[in-house]
Amino acid sequence: MLTFAILTISDRAFSGVRADLSCPALVQAIEADSHRVRISAVAPDEFEQIRSILCEWCDSDLFDVVLTTGGTGFAPRDVTPEATLAAIDRSTPGIVEAIRAESLKITPHAMLSRAAAGIRKNTLIINLPGSPKAALENYKIIAPVLEHAVAVLKSKPDAETGHDAHKSH
Ligand code: MTE
Repeated sequence: MLTFAILTISDRAFSGVRADLSCPALVQAIEADSHRVRISAVAPDEFEQIRSILCEWCDSDLFDVVLTTGGTGFAPRDVTPEATLAAIDRSTPGIVEAIRAESLKITPHAMLSRAAAGIRKNTLIINLPGSPKAALENYKIIAPVLEHAVAVLKSKPDAETGHDAHKSH
């Protein structure tokens, strides 16, 4: 069981103009996978606010995975990837490469994602798109590797067992 934090990044959701439907959709999917969401919050599309929440959550060491939803596109105020890159110690490009490759099978708009992912201390941060549909599609792509990713990140002694089980030779 993994512990998640979810940060919705949207000026409109933050100001109450639009309901945040992506976080509840992600919570449902995460809980259906027998994980839990311990905290969620809504932030505006502001670099420093996003960066500081991500740092605070990772530094607390209370969460295995921090998911963000929104702010990863081409709009002038989309700064989620930049704030994420400013928060992480190590990038994890394979995660966003996989998300974009799989998402391109669903929509060509997937190439408009500038999402980033990476590790700060013991916590994995992954940017997801803003719409509930896209956020869920992205979550389902990464969900199968998260337990192993976190196990390796936290250097659990049995982490390589799961890795070997998925080798084809
Ligand atoms: N990925 C999937 N799987 N499904 C989608 O519908 N939408 C794309 C892309 N990734 C989409 C997707 C679109 S339209 C955009 S603009 C980018 O994600 C960024 O979304 P964001 O600006 O809401 O973060």
